[in-house]
Amino acid sequence: HRKYSPFVTVDKPDRKWPSRRIEQAPLWAAVDLRDGNQALIKPMSVAQKKRFFKLLVEVGFKEIEVGFPSGSQIDFDFCRALIEEDLVPDDVHIQVLTQSRHELIERTFEAVRGAKNAIVHIYNATSPTFRDQVFNVDKEGCKAIAVQAATWVRDMAARQPETHWSFEYSPETFSATETDFAVEVIDAVNEVWRPDQGQRVIINLPATVEVSTPNVFADQVEIVHENIRYREHVLISVHTHNDRGCGVAAAELSMMAGADRVEGTLLGNGERTGNMDLVTCGMNLYTHGVDPGIDFSRMKEIVQVVEEITDIPTHPRHPYAGDLVFTAFSGSHQDAIRKCLGLYKPGDIWRVAYLPIDPADLGRRYEEVVRINSQSGKGGVTHVLERDYGISLPRWLQQEMAKLVQSDAEEDGGEIDSRRVHQRFNSDYLEV
Ligand code: KIV
Ligand code: ZN
Repeated sequence: HRKYSPFVTVDKPDRKWPSRRIEQAPLWAAVDLRDGNQALIKPMSVAQKKRFFKLLVEVGFKEIEVGFPSGSQIDFDFCRALIEEDLVPDDVHIQVLTQSRHELIERTFEAVRGAKNAIVHIYNATSPTFRDQVFNVDKEGCKAIAVQAATWVRDMAARQPETHWSFEYSPETFSATETDFAVEVIDAVNEVWRPDQGQRVIINLPATVEVSTPNVFADQVEIVHENIRYREHVLISVHTHNDRGCGVAAAELSMMAGADRVEGTLLGNGERTGNMDLVTCGMNLYTHGVDPGIDFSRMKEIVQVVEEITDIPTHPRHPYAGDLVFTAFSGSHQDAIRKCLGLYKPGDIWRVAYLPIDPADLGRRYEEVVRINSQSGKGGVTHVLERDYGISLPRWLQQEMAKLVQSDAEEDGGEIDSRRVHQRFNSDYLEV
């Protein structure tokens, strides 16, 4: 399946370009129900979490962070409901976040007792700001917190052998941490967990706050990828936020730098400016011919469920998901789109001007593409008459009709629908 060609490439013997590309989808982890939820004005109820979880499972997510059960009764109850009502398919891992404190880790294990597959996710902040000003610990103290928590997790998991456990560690504020120190802490955690002896381990690298350009973050990821012990036994995950507007770019460059797994949320809800948007990142892969493994053809439903539960409207220009992202009002764009769509046959490489993707792949209708206002030209007017009424206009009439329709739209000051264009055609050219 090569409906989308990956790149324009430059064929020069002395230069490989692009130097890197993403060849396969990462393992996705959806954190909507935890990071997304913690940023909401009105946090999700158990019923809303169930609805959201169902959607995430149906579209294909296999790793889903379901909450922070030691910090919230709703999250605790939700974990219990997932397990007791058998709502988690066998191939899906539920993930639970906890601070690195003994009583909280204990409560977290209680929340997921009886789960088939569970990821216990511990974190502690490692950056100088947090060490010096928030926790007042030195580097050794900071590392000791992580090692102690990892030990508790290992020991508590051993007491619940009915579950297949994965362990996840996040050096929170990784992007602001000295990278060599992050490597040191990760190595110390892995000495406890010993991924080389069969324990499934995820090392998650957060841009808790996005503080640099995406290439700098990717360099930090690459340093971890190249230097941690037991690398080949560990999944390296990234968890980017969007403070500089580059959450998706940082995740993409991280994949090129060695990340195996990417955490994010559908449409990017999350702390402050949000988490990395799974829709944009996944669809970016798709348009380069890489199957993201997530069913985005259900985009309408995704948008509807996310909007309903988060109470956050989707921007009409949100990549791939917004109402207006496949619409052209301007005449020259409409003309080019009309010509390309007229030539496109199923099975061809998608080559349609101004449309990076076939809207039908996202469950959208072609009717949304060409819409008419005072900026539209003959291409658009001709297109809607052909499309909706099977009327093909001769060239001279295309120009005339475009002028008439433009003046109607100017008078109205907005969009006019194809029925109105048809009426204008009837009244001026058919009725005597
Ligand atoms: O952004 C962050 O650092 C987090 C961690 C807890 C993974 O959400
Ligand atoms: Zn986060």
